[in-house]
Amino acid sequence: MDRLIVKGGQQLSGEIKISGAKNAALPILVSSLLSPHACILDNVPDVGDVKTMYQLLSVFGTTTTWDSNRLQIKTESLKNNEAPYELVSTMRASVLVLGPLVARGGEAIVPLPGGCSIGSRPVNLHIDGLRALGAEVHIQHGSIHVKAKRLKGAQISMQPSSVTGTENLMMAAVLAKGVTVIDNAAREPEVAELASFLVKRGARIQGYGTATITIEGVEALNDREQHHRIMGDRIEAGTYLIAGAITQGDVTVHLTSPELLDNLCTILHAAGAKISKKNESIRVKMNQRASSVNVTTGPCPKFPTDLQPQMSSLLSLANGVSLVTETVFENRLTHISELCRMGANITIKGNQAKITGTDKLSGAPVMASDLRGGTALIIAGLAAEGETAISRVYHVDRGYECIEDKLNTLGANVHRVKDNNA
Ligand code: UD1
Repeated sequence: MDRLIVKGGQQLSGEIKISGAKNAALPILVSSLLSPHACILDNVPDVGDVKTMYQLLSVFGTTTTWDSNRLQIKTESLKNNEAPYELVSTMRASVLVLGPLVARGGEAIVPLPGGCSIGSRPVNLHIDGLRALGAEVHIQHGSIHVKAKRLKGAQISMQPSSVTGTENLMMAAVLAKGVTVIDNAAREPEVAELASFLVKRGARIQGYGTATITIEGVEALNDREQHHRIMGDRIEAGTYLIAGAITQGDVTVHLTSPELLDNLCTILHAAGAKISKKNESIRVKMNQRASSVNVTTGPCPKFPTDLQPQMSSLLSLANGVSLVTETVFENRLTHISELCRMGANITIKGNQAKITGTDKLSGAPVMASDLRGGTALIIAGLAAEGETAISRVYHVDRGYECIEDKLNTLGANVHRVKDNNA
């Protein structure tokens, strides 16, 4: 297991190219199960979860050819309909295969993903939605068994809105007979990206990007080979902007749709950063210690939960008291105890962290317990005095491409230690 060693105290400055969005790439890869025809995808991020997804899809007969960040993907025929527990247990997004497998092959067996360090993370909305589409669903021996000759369009209401739930049901409904309406659908841009990709492939979907998505089922997707470029990763971009702010630096990220980070920019501006946006980039310049600011996460268009841990690191060094309220996942404050070991002054009550800013953090050995929480510790390490050693970096590698190289390009001092005993 690798560790990252961060020597703190460098001001980050410069420009950074943002990778393709993991959370857009994953469902788009899965959608290959819906049709026998090939697609070529560009800007696919070379991150751990995407590699796990290749492994999972290969179980069903999907073939992938990889050249740099370009991927050719094809599922000529479905060879299997059962997902292995070992893969599902390492990546919750594996549940996304349920809808496409049953839509194309009539049957799917996927182990229940179980909880994870950020909360219990149920899949009831995926299951209820498939039942509404006419599938028989049984839970047996820890797995979800789904069967349907052909799914039928239905009216589905999500409460709460779920990103992968919406994606799963949208993919299932694409080949269903009749019209499906998903109300309170997730509005995250990655959901809209999947929908627009499916539309290119011949699906009939309207309303994506809004809370009501309407899908008119088709017999089959089209047979044209599709080229698609995966959108830039707004969470990765936001992470580097926060890294710039915590080191009182000057960082520019290149992102095709900078408005996807309006929420973060508003918060960073309130914390004292100067923000300049251009067509395809955002620059954050922080000339002084951040000021305190309150942050409350929520489904899109609210502040993304995937940037909350990184913001907590920034606010732990801010001037004043900030309240960070996590409303999406019940246990997404696990990085806080590690931040406190670095000298942060934070108390937790329920889903809220009260962060009393301190003027310095000190480097320490810390442990990543999830993807974004691990990244928050790296960010804290960048601004801490001395050395921070982050163990269990595999969590971070699930979602960030070459994180130490990108940070070092900006002037950070981060290196990786391969450590079999870490
Ligand atoms: C996706 C993202 C993840 C992000 C999250 C919220 C991917 C691969 N992952 O995760 O990075 O943090 O959205 O933006 O895209 N819920 C239920 N029942 C369900 C499903 C969800 O109650 O069947 C609840 C969850 O417990 C949570 C809320 O819905 O409280 C939102 O979760 P959801 O949007 O499903 O997260 P994911 O799709 O797993």
